[in-house]
Amino acid sequence: MRIGCVWETLACLTAAIMVLNSCTTAAGEVTTCSGIVPMVYRNDKISITDFGGIGDGRTLNTKAFNEAIYRIKHLRRRGGTLLYIPPGVYLTQSFNLTSRMTLYLAKGAVIKATQNTANWPLIAPLASYGRGRERPGGRYISFIHGEGLHDVIITGENGTIDGQGGVWWNMWRQRTLQFTRPNLIEFKDSRGIIISNVIFKNSPFWNIHPVYCSNVVIRHVTILAPPDSPNTDGIDPDSSSHVCIEDSYISTGDDLVAVKSGWDQYGIKYARPSNDITIRRLTGSSPFAGIAIGSETSGGVYNVLAEHITLKNMGIGIHLKTNIGRGGIIRNITVSDVYMVNVRKGIKISADVGDHPDKNYNPNALPVLKHVRIKNVWGKKVQQAGLIHGLKNSPFTDICLSNINLQGPIISTRNVPWKCSYVSGGAIHVNPSPCLELIRTRYKCR
Ligand SMILES: *[C@@H]1O[C@H](CO)[C@@H](O)[C@H](O)[C@H]1NC(C)=O
Ligand SMILES: *[C@@H]1O[C@H](CO)[C@@H](O)[C@H](O)[C@H]1NC(C)=O
Ligand SMILES: *[C@@H]1O[C@H](CO)[C@@H](O)[C@H](O)[C@H]1NC(C)=O
Repeated sequence: MRIGCVWETLACLTAAIMVLNSCTTAAGEVTTCSGIVPMVYRNDKISITDFGGIGDGRTLNTKAFNEAIYRIKHLRRRGGTLLYIPPGVYLTQSFNLTSRMTLYLAKGAVIKATQNTANWPLIAPLASYGRGRERPGGRYISFIHGEGLHDVIITGENGTIDGQGGVWWNMWRQRTLQFTRPNLIEFKDSRGIIISNVIFKNSPFWNIHPVYCSNVVIRHVTILAPPDSPNTDGIDPDSSSHVCIEDSYISTGDDLVAVKSGWDQYGIKYARPSNDITIRRLTGSSPFAGIAIGSETSGGVYNVLAEHITLKNMGIGIHLKTNIGRGGIIRNITVSDVYMVNVRKGIKISADVGDHPDKNYNPNALPVLKHVRIKNVWGKKVQQAGLIHGLKNSPFTDICLSNINLQGPIISTRNVPWKCSYVSGGAIHVNPSPCLELIRTRYKCR
């Protein structure tokens, strides 16, 4: 049985009481990501042990990984090659993947990042960020890295990719980081990627970061990091299109899924949106957001669908966030069938979140946020139901809420009322009653 299945069923049942609704399509089939990227079977198989890999948890296997992947890249077997990681703990420095490969982690296989941060390679900052996300200049390469690739699968029997992020979190806490921390896995300028049936643990920074990618499927993954681990976002589709995330469990120290598209003037110039992003049947917890858009959205974000989401012990359930200087258009965002329990804020949409890369951001580059649909949301122990704060010179428009029931921490008392400014749209069947901006108008939500 899938992790989170019980929660999900509960969410469906509760949602079904509020409105005719179900987890399946009219035909009774469960919607999935399949079809976006074909699952390729590979005849050619090699094992990391063929290249001297030793899974004793102490031996450094960097050479074995590099040689195995070099062999895949240069022998170019028809249909690609599967690299098998048998049970054992394989310590290694960061390494690069190649096209037409499957990285297969057997049950009990662990690929573990070395804690030698001094020798960690640096790469150039992303053009759409202009600098590292947390420090100026370059950034440490992701533990597992892919650039300009196609047809890559990371899968297996729920083996683990362990970033051993503790040393990095401490450098962040002690303010001794020289450059931006490494992501656990990053694909850049790549297409046709599947990540499934893998456990990701203790990432130094963001866990899974597809940037400038298309056709990416992430399913049946488990992503774990302690709630106090800094910036350990689960999955951050960034300036990427046709990304499908489903049937996963994420519990980290930051946003579970955050859709992004570049940072202020750099992102505006790079102009690569994130679009056609599907997130479904996701369960998790975090002191930050469950489903987030932003705050780096300068290339624009559109056509996002998040549905059947179950959140427990959260900071914010649904968080759309941007800032002055970001520019970018966020539009056509649908979030539906969300169940949340023990949450500080249910829904937050705001334009004052996150920092700037430098002082050269354009204060006149106002973000635009429109056509948002949030429906069938049910919550218990929600301290504050909702906050929506647009900008005076760029109000949020066409924001529609329906069938939302968010109970306060104690049944008999009311939770903190909605707070809004500079927003227009409509609300129907929302409890507690949302702000006047959304109910006094006769706005037709279509
Ligand atoms: C890995 O890829 C990065 C980015 O393309 C590159 O800078 C680096 O040299 C590569 N590392 C190795 C060991 O090939
Ligand atoms: C791996 O974990 C996923 C997600 O929790 C689950 O659906 C799947 O059945 C597991 N697969 C194996 C081979 O254990
Ligand atoms: C809005 O996004 C959904 C996916 O969430 C897509 O199916 C739909 O076509 C989009 N609508 C428009 C007008 O682009």
